[in-house]
Amino acid sequence: MSGLFITLEGGDGVGKSTQARLLTEWLESQGRTVVRTREPGGSELGVEIREIVLHHRGDISPRAEALLYAADRAHHIATVVRPALARGEIVLQDRYLDSSVAYQGSGRILDADEIRGISLWAAEGLLPDVTVLLDLDVEAARGRLDGANKRFDRLEAEAQDFHLRVRQAFLGLAEAEPDRFLVVDAGQTPEALAAEIRDRIAPLL
Ligand code: TYD
Repeated sequence: MSGLFITLEGGDGVGKSTQARLLTEWLESQGRTVVRTREPGGSELGVEIREIVLHHRGDISPRAEALLYAADRAHHIATVVRPALARGEIVLQDRYLDSSVAYQGSGRILDADEIRGISLWAAEGLLPDVTVLLDLDVEAARGRLDGANKRFDRLEAEAQDFHLRVRQAFLGLAEAEPDRFLVVDAGQTPEALAAEIRDRIAPLL
């Protein structure tokens, strides 16, 4: 059986974790082995990088931030993702290079092509088979985060216009690569959303 690399993308608070759980359950019910992972923080080294990039108290310059995500990515892809794909497993990953292009490229206003290039270098060119973009109005997403009552990380704490740029960037990326992306309306019920995602993945199993 050949491996399958699926990534989930979208702004903060759009419901990626719920969908990752539902999709994992369904894939496992189909007899597949699923490695559910995330960036930043999908490896032991990545857990340390995640703490820095999300919770460092002082300033982090935009390029340093981009390189921290890229360092996390390089190690994670080499030590977790590629080995799982080589074993024929399904990797279901919360966030990948599109997050870097959206958050560091459009959010921090670095050059999007350069950010993509750095990510691809870090990952030795690995692109997902399918990327599911959960799209949601920025205010609705913020409402969900407020409701969850958790401590905001450095990115979540950014102003609304940052998150508006991130959302538009994701939509632009999806438009540029329609074969890789599935864009879903994250305002639907979790079950309806999960069914839409399953329909896209089922033919690939
Ligand atoms: P995430 O793990 O989704 O946060 P949470 O566990 O709080 O839901 O992602 C952490 C943050 O990192 C998120 O705000 C997006 C940001 N991020 C980037 O800015 N660039 C990247 O390349 C990645 C992978 C994430």
